[in-house]
Amino acid sequence: MHVAAGQVREQPSDLLLIHAAELATCCSSPRCDGCSDGDGPRRGAAMGDIGIIRDGAIAVRSGVIVDVGNTQDVLAREPSGNSVGASDATQVIDASGRTVLPGFVDAHTHLVFAGERYREHVMRLGGAKYLDILAAGGGILSTLTSTRSASLSALVAGAMKRLDIMLLHGTTTVEAKSGYGLDIDTELRQLEAAERASQAHPVDVVSTFMGAHALPPEFTGDPQGYLDFLESAVLPAVENQGIAEFCDVFCEEGVFSVEQSRRVLLAGMKHGLRPKIHADEIFPIGGAELASELAAVSADHLAAASQEGIHSMARAGVAAVLLPATMFTLMSEAYADARGMIDAGVAVALATDFNPGTSPTMSMPFVITLACLQMKMTPAEAVCAATLNAAWAIGRGDRAGAIQVGRDADFIVCDVPAVDALPFSVGVNPVRDVVKRGAHVVTSVGGGGRLCHSRI
Ligand code: NIG
Ligand code: FE
Repeated sequence: MHVAAGQVREQPSDLLLIHAAELATCCSSPRCDGCSDGDGPRRGAAMGDIGIIRDGAIAVRSGVIVDVGNTQDVLAREPSGNSVGASDATQVIDASGRTVLPGFVDAHTHLVFAGERYREHVMRLGGAKYLDILAAGGGILSTLTSTRSASLSALVAGAMKRLDIMLLHGTTTVEAKSGYGLDIDTELRQLEAAERASQAHPVDVVSTFMGAHALPPEFTGDPQGYLDFLESAVLPAVENQGIAEFCDVFCEEGVFSVEQSRRVLLAGMKHGLRPKIHADEIFPIGGAELASELAAVSADHLAAASQEGIHSMARAGVAAVLLPATMFTLMSEAYADARGMIDAGVAVALATDFNPGTSPTMSMPFVITLACLQMKMTPAEAVCAATLNAAWAIGRGDRAGAIQVGRDADFIVCDVPAVDALPFSVGVNPVRDVVKRGAHVVTSVGGGGRLCHSRI
């Protein structure tokens, strides 16, 4: 696939993006010039080296990136040497003065649900604690009641509306968990809704089964009975449905213990689901260590993870998916130790954790702002964590998360002059254009306005 310097491409591009002030390729290989095969997430100092090309350009054909480089070089390789593209059919995006990034990969969301929980947010303003609200039958259990009574079409419609908002904020691939049904029918319906939304919407949805999100009311006081039910009835049905790729568990004090979480994840593995884990979000109970023991794809949250847990994740190659918007919404100061994780060699990713209770944001730019201002990640590290490393954390490291020849043409144009400026558009959406698999699905409106519209 690689186009050598000076070599003309065989066919004109469908789409050319030119003159990006900075184009961050986020390629898998640290010394890649836009052509290497993906070989893994970035760790340590390599997270800060995101392959920035100045006056950058991208050529796209049939939804795939066919060339990346300096604008002059990419145009010189266009057939017939037309100054902006060889064919009238070639669409051109002029990104002068702006920054181009891979489309964001939101590696942890609870996308599909019904109902609202704004009253709980107000209760927390008055001092109520998240786990106390859950223990009193609210929280996840409140969303469970509304989701159980929602139809498939209502769940799909809700998911589609949220995917529109995510796309407008630059997200082109998203992970979505079930876990608001906690019975067979509703868990399968949530997964089905995610699949239908994915088929109907430009954003790709990657599904995770999270039947162990809380103990449903039918099993109050009987966690072993619920785990028996998950193992004997729900997991076989999920495998048979064939949509979910991962199995997740809320490993937390008062929810599922380390022993119970181990049982859930091992059972999921028997049904072909790769393990992920909500680990050490509030209390350090050993979730990171369990993720390492099981060689989980990722451990997520980790705000309270132990140092030993972090080092064990580095050794076991478990990605850390950090969710600073959750800490922000819970008004906690205990953000995850991103710097310690990067120094320890853990592949750090970022995600919104979008859900109705602890993280109502769908904006990856906001998460990048929090990652920098609250966890002291550099802007380049945060971009790497929100793209390439996030793609690896959801099993899409070979297709998404980088502007690289042979990958899906998923990229965004941000109205900032440099990557370093990105975290500082606080409370403002910097995303102006979104290209998903070669289609220009979000476009800026003329006159220098900030409005975007989607061509869905
Ligand atoms: O990641 N912590 C567990 N699950 C979600 C919250 C879900 C909810 O409160 O509805 C989270 O924060
Ligand atoms: Fe979550």
